[in-house]
Formats: sequence, C-alpha cells, structure tokens
Amino acid sequence: MALVTLRQMLDHAAEYAYGVPAFNINNMEQGLAIMRAAKACDAPVIIQASRGARSYAGDIMLRHLVQALVEMFPDIPVVMHQDHGNNDATCLSAIRHGFTSVMMDGSLEEDMKTPATYDYNVDITARVTRATHAVGASVEGELGVLGSLETGEAAPEDGSGATGKLSQDQLLTDPDQAVDFVLRTKCDALAIACGTSHGAYKFSRKPDGDILSMGTIAAIHDKLPNTHLVMHGSPSVPQDLQDLINAFGGHMPQTYGVPVQEIERGIRMGVRKVNIDTDCRMAMTAQFRRIATEKPQEFDPRKFLIPAMDELAELCRDRFERFGTAGHAHAIKPIPMDDMAKRYASGALAPRITPQSPPSNR
Ligand code: G3H
Ligand code: 13P
Ligand code: ZN
Repeated sequence: MALVTLRQMLDHAAEYAYGVPAFNINNMEQGLAIMRAAKACDAPVIIQASRGARSYAGDIMLRHLVQALVEMFPDIPVVMHQDHGNNDATCLSAIRHGFTSVMMDGSLEEDMKTPATYDYNVDITARVTRATHAVGASVEGELGVLGSLETGEAAPEDGSGATGKLSQDQLLTDPDQAVDFVLRTKCDALAIACGTSHGAYKFSRKPDGDILSMGTIAAIHDKLPNTHLVMHGSPSVPQDLQDLINAFGGHMPQTYGVPVQEIERGIRMGVRKVNIDTDCRMAMTAQFRRIATEKPQEFDPRKFLIPAMDELAELCRDRFERFGTAGHAHAIKPIPMDDMAKRYASGALAPRITPQSPPSNR
C-alpha cells in the first residue's frame, strides 16, 4: 500500500462516518507501535510530524522511516502529515520529503506565538493550498486559536501556542467565518478551536460545556455539514497512565484531558481527524518509569522500549476501535498524488462546502 493523501482518507471517513486519530511520531518505536495497532484492527492511520519532530529525527530519517513502515505494513493506508506548519517553506519542504499532507497553521504568525489576523490566515492558507493541490497533496487549515477557556492561555509546554491572554472570540472558532475561510482558502480539512490546548494540562477539572465547547463544533457543523473538521489537543490524558507515572516516581499534578466520549460525539458532528500526542508520550514514559523502578539493574534500552511500545500500541488500538477507524483499512485503494492533482485542477475535488442535512444523532 502506498501513502495516501489526507483528503482521500477523510473523504472515506466521512462517507462511512468514522474519525481517524492522528498520532505524532518522532522515532521508530512510536511508528512501529502505531502501525502494529493499525494492523491488528485493520485501521487506516494518520502519522504526523511536528517541526520539532523534523528537527529531532531529521527529514531524511523521517522519510525513510515512514517508507519502511509502509513497506512493512502493506495493507495499511498511511497519511504522512506535517503538523502545525508555520509558513510556506515548512509545508513545501515537507512535501518534498514525501509528506502527503500539510497543516498550514495560519491562526498564528510564523513565530507560532503571535495570534494572526484573519486576512493573514486566509492569504497564507490559500497560497499554500494552491501550491499543495498542484502536486496532489492535501491541506489542513486552522481557524481560531488553541487555548484554555479556563485561563485564556495556551499550554505552557506548548511548542506551537499563543503567548499572552486570549479572548473568548479568539478561543472559539466563529461558524460564519469558518464558512468564509473554507470557501476562500479551499483547504481540505479545518482545525477548529473549542477550548482544547496542547499538552497534559488542558483542563483543571473534568471538562463540561463551559471549558470544552462541543457546542462550537455543533454550530460549525450546522454551517459546514460536509467539511472535515479537526480537533487538536485531543488526548484523554488517561487517569491510569497518570497513576502509573506517579506510582513510579513521576510528579504529574492531577489533570484532565478530552473524554473519549466527547470525541465520539465530535465524530458524529463532522470531526474526522483527532490529534493525539500527549497520551502516546505518557504511555511510553509510564513503562520507562516502571522498568527503571522495578528493574534498577536493567540497562538494555530494548527492555524499556518493548513494554513502552506495547503500552502505546494498546492505547492506539483502543482509539481506532472507539473512533470507528477499525475495519476500514482494506477498503481504501490509494489514489496516486498525480491523479489527485488532476482532480483538483479539474474541479472534481472542490472544497467540501456543499450543504447537506446535518445528522440528528448528537
Ligand atoms: O503540536 C503539538 C504536538 O504535541 C507536537 O509537539 O512540537 O513538542 O513535537 P512537539
Ligand atoms: P496533545 O499534545 O494535547 O496530545 O495534542 C496533539 C496535537 O494537537 C498535535 O497537533
Ligand atoms: Zn495541534
């Protein structure tokens, strides 16, 4: 199975009403664990690399790593996606290195700290979309700024997050502006802001509608019932992993993520891509800590990495099952990027803004 584009995968997900987790990777062990889970349940998968991952592993390493995964798991369609691209160069160089999809995050300026104006966001996203569609790759845009509705701030450990206090208007995507944004940028998927932020410390209590605005997603879906929506900052920060980390010497203060049931509800309202990094980090770290504590004589990295991969694979398998991704891999027949480019050029792949009745089962 070749790599596939985000547009192809999410069109399939929309047709069959499921969501696809997008897991961040930086190294071989994360890649193997995600792919083993995908194979175990026949799930298509989105693998994404941040700018930080690209500088950690290097573009050449990442390109060959993903090619190796595709070769090792020939039955699993894989999207290779740039997470939070900050300018044209980041997005276009990703495609040059074999990525089939990019996120142009124009909600922030190039420094990934300063909230951008709407015009800046439309201009840069439309420009990157034109260049990207010309070679058949896909684009995710973002409207609204990720950050906490409790504090008005992005998470402190965030590699791509606004500095300073954000207003409620900035923190919640405006549904009417979302329609204009998709029309003008022609992006394939739209990341929205609804109170999630990156990292483990997104909610100080189990989130309710005041701090996790599922109503915003519903309102956007009412206006854009056909558009692929993306939830960033959507790990559930599982209690058992917090407990495991803390039982073996960690000091994670009590925190709350996005409940999986809320993501399932989001999927019923057009969310097709669900970004998860923190849970994956916690799964591996919990096992590193356990082995280091239980077997202090151990120094073979594989003895740490094997249980870490198993823990991560189990987490991924659970999300594939819960998001309805499982069972769909075999049905996706890759469309070559050149064909995708022709479809964009001919207008056959237009922005998904055609109205249709929103589903009633929220
Ligand atoms: O965007 C957030 C992801 O968790 C990536 O984080 O920039 O530390 O690789 P990172
Ligand atoms: P978390 O770091 O909160 O898991 O979010 C991942 C993400 O949104 C990547 O873009
Ligand atoms: Zn993100």
